[in-house]
Amino acid sequence: MKKRVNLTGIFFFFIWTTVVIETAVLIYDAVASKTQDRRWIALIMLVVIVVLSAICTLIDAIRRRVMVDKPVGKILEATTKIAQGDFDQQIQLDNMPVRQKELDEIADKINVMARELKKAELLNNDFVSNVSHEMKTPLAVISSYAKWLSDDNVSEEDKKRCVDKIIGSVDKLASLVNNVLQLSKLEHQELEVENKKYNLTAQLEKVVAEYEPSIADKGLELECDLEEMRIISNESLLELVWNNLLSNALKFTESGFIKVKLGRSGDCAVVKVSDSGCGIAPENGERIFDKFYQCDRSHSVNGNGLGLAMVKQVIDLVGGKISVSSQENVGTTFTIVLRGVVNE
Ligand SMILES: Nc1ncnc2c1ncn2[C@@H]1O[C@H](COP(=O)(O)OP(=O)(O)O)[C@@H](O)[C@H]1O
Ligand SMILES: [Mg+2]
Repeated sequence: MKKRVNLTGIFFFFIWTTVVIETAVLIYDAVASKTQDRRWIALIMLVVIVVLSAICTLIDAIRRRVMVDKPVGKILEATTKIAQGDFDQQIQLDNMPVRQKELDEIADKINVMARELKKAELLNNDFVSNVSHEMKTPLAVISSYAKWLSDDNVSEEDKKRCVDKIIGSVDKLASLVNNVLQLSKLEHQELEVENKKYNLTAQLEKVVAEYEPSIADKGLELECDLEEMRIISNESLLELVWNNLLSNALKFTESGFIKVKLGRSGDCAVVKVSDSGCGIAPENGERIFDKFYQCDRSHSVNGNGLGLAMVKQVIDLVGGKISVSSQENVGTTFTIVLRGVVNE
């Protein structure tokens, strides 16, 4: 940190010392012109020095009280409350008679810290209530179909329907738990960011091939335009990204096409996943990357809003960039830019 020299303080100290010494000299002159008795002069000067020292000490005590004790007391009071969990605390030094840059900066930093802690607390509370909320629906489905199953008069056909519904809800719960765990590992950087050279084109081909039957089942056209490319990055984490983007494209597209394109821009790989689906309204903007955010729940029955939050975490972790452009009822394109293309 840069060390600052308090020039104003040094200047005032210099002036003050000069005034005190000059006052003592003037008093000495005045006394010496009145009497020649050295003992008498010494006694008077002793009194003068004691009085001047007392005045200096008093002034210094007042200065300390105003400039240090009061603001530091305020800061201490606020930090104690923050330490006890009251993150609404904000230190106000505006009404102090004398302001000091350093103390103002400390107060500012503590205020920012308290606001950040408050945000983290809100996010944490939201996260817990969102997870609980997401669990409620599948649990209610399991409970009601299990009750129905326990009825002796259920037909074989209804039994099958109940079991299918229960399996569907269990899958949903499993995916939720899995996503929450993955996301937590990503956020706490517990997943190894193991970078190695691998074939990005082959990886995209493999992931697209896995989705091909479902895309065909929906009657959608699949376009794949992949330039041959090797990259140094985290293979397994990026697989999670392609899977999420393709599953979204598939989920939110009822007719038209899904396109996957891999190209190069300088030293970067550029992957574009486009679809001609329902699109994303402009007001949802970047919020789609927030945990549990789903724009239109009617389309999102098979999701929990964690996919894109994970995608964003992964892209941040591997040092890439993600952007989205979309038009409602026209389609969506996600663009991912990755560093580390191998020049061969
Ligand atoms: N390709 C897409 N087309 C339209 N909307 C999308 C697309 N991808 C994501 N979204 C919107 O962003 C939301 C968040 O996506 P995501 O985090 O993957 O959650 P989920 O898929 O579980 O709903 C989705 O619910 C959807 O509203
Ligand atoms: Mg998704």
